[in-house]
Amino acid sequence: MPTLTAKVSQSVDFIGAFDPKIRTFDIIMKTANGSSYNSYIVRGSAGVAIMDTVKKEFSEDFFLRLESLCDYEEILYIVLHHLEPDHSGALEELMSRAPQAKLIISNRAVLMLKGIIKSDVAFETANTGKTISLGDKTIEFLSTPFLHWPDTMSSYLHEEKVLFSGDVFGSHYYDERLFDDKVGDFSYAFKYYYDHIMRPFKQYVLQALNLYSRFDIQTIAPLHGPILRTNPQYYIEKYEEWSSEEKFRKHTFGKKMLSVFYMSSYDNTHKMAMKIMEGADSIEGVVASMYDLASLEENNMIDLLEESDAIIIGSPTINGDAVKPAWDLLSCMAYLESGGKIGAAFGSYGWTGEAPEMLHDRMQWLKFRLPAKPIKIKLIPTAEELEECFDFGAHVAEIAMGKMVEMEI
Ligand code: FEO
Repeated sequence: MPTLTAKVSQSVDFIGAFDPKIRTFDIIMKTANGSSYNSYIVRGSAGVAIMDTVKKEFSEDFFLRLESLCDYEEILYIVLHHLEPDHSGALEELMSRAPQAKLIISNRAVLMLKGIIKSDVAFETANTGKTISLGDKTIEFLSTPFLHWPDTMSSYLHEEKVLFSGDVFGSHYYDERLFDDKVGDFSYAFKYYYDHIMRPFKQYVLQALNLYSRFDIQTIAPLHGPILRTNPQYYIEKYEEWSSEEKFRKHTFGKKMLSVFYMSSYDNTHKMAMKIMEGADSIEGVVASMYDLASLEENNMIDLLEESDAIIIGSPTINGDAVKPAWDLLSCMAYLESGGKIGAAFGSYGWTGEAPEMLHDRMQWLKFRLPAKPIKIKLIPTAEELEECFDFGAHVAEIAMGKMVEMEI
């Protein structure tokens, strides 16, 4: 039975749940230190607000903590900063126990609500600037979409300068000492969380930080991991720094970056890659580079993908498929903004040669711009075919430099 409810500020208490055993979160994240599902109660002179719930399996802990601090009849508002199940898992049960409470969600959450709660529930929506009153306490809402779901919002308790930041500034780091000045060193978890959850949405991070800058923030109360009260500005500055980093090569050369990634069984796809790179590099203003996927670490893949304006992927066809490292490369786009990057695919093949089309199709789903049909060559490329590869690389590089052509569909 949990005994811990922790005071966050005079009127705010932690009522969340701890998940020390979780080792993988949302399929893609490793959580060596477990995690927590942070939920908070805010008490005002007229009643209380519950800020988020917890993952369903942890509901019992959440309700025990909540009941130790308030009666259900006192709950005026239930605020869901976004509807992901790790925070909305106890919502339906809470609403049945506190039917008088008003549910507050963002505008974007409305369509998702039916997917989370199967019964009809009454709700109000909040956008930037909306406030709710708990008598002597006022909570103001801020629209901070995509951090981490499209419906995400944040809120600010004016009287006690507490920012409820949603997933922003979160860490998957279980430590029941809870506060950043009490817990162990969670710096790796804070950065890892940013890299995997926030990095694809850097522009939205900067927009959110701009909204937060209106407020004097004394405490950041995120939805996972330590509550940040020692020097909130430090964490804000870290997010600002990571979201504003200039691309390394762009910073150095001011040129468009085109990367050719390839794997090769019998050197044929490699020969194609060489010519494609040469063609791309012949275009003024473009720096072309080549990378053998057989030896590229995932972290390097992510950095290179992020840095590249254009990405050309080459794979042989083995058993009717592109090779696994090519798919692994594209799966790294889960951590990045893909919209607007230019893509293309190529490969040598022996029998059927589906790989370039398959990679092309995948890039289309990932919202790449695809200015050229995939190019495939049977076995050893001839001199003429290598010239085609040169032209292919040059064509993609010209598009990266802004040459207007009709996009291939
Ligand atoms: Fe912690 Fe996006 O849920």
